[in-house]
Amino acid sequence: MSTFVEPGSTATALLLLGRGTDPDSEKGVDCPGALPPASDPNLVERAWAAKKALGDRLFILGHHYQRDEVIQFADVTGDSFKLAQQAAARPEAEYIVFCGVHFMAESADILTGPDQQVILPDMAAGCSMADMAAAQQVEDCWDALVDAGIADSVVPMTYMNSSADIKAFVGRRDGVVCTSSNAERALRWAYERGEKVLFLPDQHLGRNTVVRELGFDLDDCVVYNPHKPNGGLTTEQLRQARIILWRGHCSVHGRFTLDSVNDVRERVPDVNVLVHPECTHEVVAAADRVGSTEYIITAIEEAEPGSAWAIGTELNLVRRLANQHPDKRIMFLDKAVCYCSTMNRIDLPHLVWALEELVAGRVPNRIVVDEDTTVNARHALDRMLALP
Ligand code: 13P
Ligand code: SF4
Repeated sequence: MSTFVEPGSTATALLLLGRGTDPDSEKGVDCPGALPPASDPNLVERAWAAKKALGDRLFILGHHYQRDEVIQFADVTGDSFKLAQQAAARPEAEYIVFCGVHFMAESADILTGPDQQVILPDMAAGCSMADMAAAQQVEDCWDALVDAGIADSVVPMTYMNSSADIKAFVGRRDGVVCTSSNAERALRWAYERGEKVLFLPDQHLGRNTVVRELGFDLDDCVVYNPHKPNGGLTTEQLRQARIILWRGHCSVHGRFTLDSVNDVRERVPDVNVLVHPECTHEVVAAADRVGSTEYIITAIEEAEPGSAWAIGTELNLVRRLANQHPDKRIMFLDKAVCYCSTMNRIDLPHLVWALEELVAGRVPNRIVVDEDTTVNARHALDRMLALP
């Protein structure tokens, strides 16, 4: 019997689950057009039937943060690194339905052949972190590095959680993409090629990795704010820095605080605190273990029965782990609900709609990255996939 305790609900959390309506604050809660109603009792049956009808022509990828109602239909589940690898490894699949967010579907389109079509069941499934780095802002930042006389010694690097335009920017300048599974290896690769790194767009993953894994001081990092002239930094600060962190963050992982860690340690003295590296540095520094979603899953699979774990990552994954491991005491690190609202956009009605459209011979919500962006972004993604 699972001991998992649901964190308290909030009005926003209910909205994100599609319950309740507030059209002013949550664009798209109302389901437009031909979407089947969420109340249709046959949705599960309809999804299985459409999947069966499409057979090997269809490959469904599911990120670990997806809802259970969707993840049950995934041919492969994974973190963003594993899903990128899997997308690249399925040249025979005509349709790749990506149950994840927009930047993941873009990466899948870049990594798959021209005859393969990538579909995102809800176009509103974006990522607030990816939106924090726009192409023009990044070009302006590079100009600031050129003006400071340091651009030649900077290797640009972007987290997977960025638009295809940003990946292409990095690819054009011989940089690399990373995910939370391989950020350390990618950073070591970059420092073999340049003295400094421009790390986009997640300041926390960049900071946590260089400080924890590469032994940097916090003073070696500066934060470039795209909303301020010269990033809010002096030329001297840019020249002194070993890593220039973009001022972006994940709004989900940013919710965990040092108080959440202290509080759970007080309540459960033998607890292991396990967090994602998108959390702030103080949360990561106070945790026992840190890693990507795939790492978190493996840590729980290998944990001793009876051991206690407070997990700081998205709630769909933590709840699933608690259900799959009733012999372990698994709890959510924060007291309040903490879903990724955009991951949650992909629900069963959207999946059924997308699959049934494919069965009818129509390709809905296709994600297409243009040729020039694809070529350049692919350089940076291929470098990541080839990391030792
Ligand atoms: P990973 O899949 O790399 O663990 O990243 C988590 C995440 O936030 C995806 O958006
Ligand atoms: Fe973006 Fe954070 Fe959601 Fe991942 S969890 S998709 S980084 S907002």
